[in-house]
This record gives sequence, C-alpha cells and structure tokens, in this order.
Amino acid sequence: MIADRLRARSFRSYERLDVPLGERVTVVTGDNGAGKTNLLEALYTSCVGRSCRTRIDAQTVRFDQPVARVELEGHDEQEDHTLAVAIDRKEGKTFFADGARVESFEDFTWRPPVAVFMPDRLELVKGAPGVRRAHLDQLVAALWPARRGTRRSYAEALAQRNALLARGGGSEAQMDTWDRELAAAGLALMENRRSATSEIEERFVAMSEELGLTRGPALRYRPSAGVETIEQLVQELRERRADDLARGFSTYGPHRDEIVFTVAKREVRTYGSQGQQRLTLLALLLAECEAIAAVTARRPLILLDDVTSELDATRRHLLVDRVARLGQVLITTTEREHVPAEAPVDVQLAIAGGTATVV
Ligand SMILES: Nc1ncnc2c1ncn2[C@@H]1O[C@H](COP(=O)(O)OP(=O)(O)OP(=O)(O)O)[C@@H](O)[C@H]1O
Ligand SMILES: [Mg+2]
Repeated sequence: MIADRLRARSFRSYERLDVPLGERVTVVTGDNGAGKTNLLEALYTSCVGRSCRTRIDAQTVRFDQPVARVELEGHDEQEDHTLAVAIDRKEGKTFFADGARVESFEDFTWRPPVAVFMPDRLELVKGAPGVRRAHLDQLVAALWPARRGTRRSYAEALAQRNALLARGGGSEAQMDTWDRELAAAGLALMENRRSATSEIEERFVAMSEELGLTRGPALRYRPSAGVETIEQLVQELRERRADDLARGFSTYGPHRDEIVFTVAKREVRTYGSQGQQRLTLLALLLAECEAIAAVTARRPLILLDDVTSELDATRRHLLVDRVARLGQVLITTTEREHVPAEAPVDVQLAIAGGTATVV
C-alpha cells in the first residue's frame, strides 16, 4: 500500500495534523522541537498500531487531552484503504481498518511493512543481545507472517521449564517433558532466525559497502546451541540439567542467541565508531526492507528521522538514492539542503507553530 494522507488529532504536540504524503519521497523540515519526530511517530502508529518511541501509549496523547487519534489513507493496485487508531488515556487503544473496528492490524497484509530509523534505535547495534533477538524475531514475522507465533511458543516453554527449575525441579518424567517442549520450540525458533539471517546477510554486506562502510562489514547469527535436530537439543539440555537446577534457570538455548555485526572482523557493538554504528543500523534496516520486498512483494514504508545530519554529502546522496528506489520514504531534517537536490521529492512539509503545512 502507498500511504497518501496522514491525519491526527491531539497526538503529541499536534492539536490537528492533516498532510499529504508523496508516493516516493516526502521531506519534513522544522526546527528542533517543532514536531518532526512526532509526525513520523504518528505515521508509524497509524500503520503499525503502536508507537515506535514508547511502550506507554498514553504518552503520545497530547498533554491535558483525553484521547488521541491517528488516521492513514492509502491505496494499493486494487483499492483504497484506511487505518486508524484511537488512544484513550483511560480505555486504551481501539483499531479500525477500512472503517471497521478490529482487534489488531496484524492480519491486514495490505499494510506496508514499516522500517524506521531514529537515533535511539542505535540500541539495536550497541545494546544488549535481547534487543537484537527481538528485532530478528520481528523480521521473521514480517517475512513469514505464519511463523510469528514461534517466539511466543518458545518463551512459554522456557517460562514453564524455568518455573520448574526455580522450584527445585519436578520428577524426571516432568523434566523430560519440558526439555522436549523447549527443544521443539527452540529448534523451530533457531531455524527461523537462521532463515531470516540468510535472507539479509548478503544484502547487508552489499548495502554497507554501498553506504561506504568499508573493510569487510559482516552480519552473523550466532546461536547459543550448535545443534541441528530436536534430539540433539534435548540431549544438550539433559546434560545441563544439573547445572540449570543449581542455578534455578535455563542456561542454554535460543534465549541466549546473538546477532553479531563486524567490521574488519571486530564487533561494531564494542569497537565501532559512532558513524560505523549508524551506517550498520542503516544497512541493516535497508537490507531488511529489500528482503521483505523480495519475499512478500510488499513495498516498504521507510521513515528516516534526522538521518542526514551526521552523514557526509556523498553518503547522504547514496542513501537517499537507495531508499527512494526501495520504497516510500519520509525524511525529516532541520536543514532542507541536507536532502540532495536531485532526490525525487514529491511532497515537502514544513512544521512551525505546532502545525505542518505543504510548502
Ligand atoms: N504528549 C505530548 N503532548 C504535547 N506535546 C508533546 C507531547 N509529547 C511531546 N511533546 C512535545 O513535542 C515536542 C518535540 O517534538 P519532536 O520530538 O517531534 O521534535 P523534533 O522536531 O523531532 O525535534 P528535534 O529536531 O530536536 O528532534 C516537545 O516540545 C515536546 O514537549
Ligand atoms: Mg526529532
């Protein structure tokens, strides 16, 4: 789906927002604090059903207002579509797809996959492994919606086994049962992660090099368990049972997996410069967009918040050229001249005095 128009009421700094979006590139300019990130967040929320900045929905409701609303109009080859989310401080969220009230947006595959670059997302490169695991599992869900339950199944089996371990373990038979459950769910999760990684590995390298991350960038899935079958994982879990009982939790399995980014064989997380970490994140997000577009034939919506400020002119040029070919793009910037003059910009928005207008 191509997003055509974004509307919002009482969302963050906006009392009212009503703006057209370009089919290729929309540039959003405004001073610091004007509401650029808020606009991207409103768009993300309307498409995904939650914020890309906070887990606390009420934070996105305008101060002193009870309810926020975001609404997106768009179209695909077949028909027009609408998505809307109402965020009530007291009652929580309500979702609407094509005008009808729905439980969630998950099943509406005409929605575009959304990739968002924001400086706080550098956590994905720099932060704890759990952030990367969650992200990889989201990629699995985006690539193959039918597999989106695997992460939850594993988490449930893990919680059961950990509860048993914390109580000092159950009977031998009980432990066997939970080891088997955990191994089955764990192997499925590992296979998904492996498949998703192999979809993006080469794209990541190509994208990194294209963005100027030289000296051999690489991305690797490093599973905690080096096993190929459920039986092997069961065996490994059994060997660690005494140790796990002593510690009171499961010490082995995909909840300990890692995704490693390297440049010149050194981990970007630990040794990368600020610029290298930024480019790594960008290359990852763009590689994912490319993979999702290839696997699902959906054109991604790419939100780039303040991405150009720390890139040199050549990189900016490469980036904008690349993303414009990949999907529908929104770029925010404080300086209009940071977006290369030859970018295919359809719509330019300026934010001032709390409102966004077409310029
Ligand atoms: N719930 C809310 N209600 C009203 N205003 C809010 C709310 N949440 C944040 N704001 C206001 O939004 C403004 C920040 O907007 P935003 O983060 O979009 O700015 P920006 O244009 O992205 O700035 P920068 O260039 O510094 O990133 C702040 O002034 C903040 O007070
Ligand atoms: Mg901002």
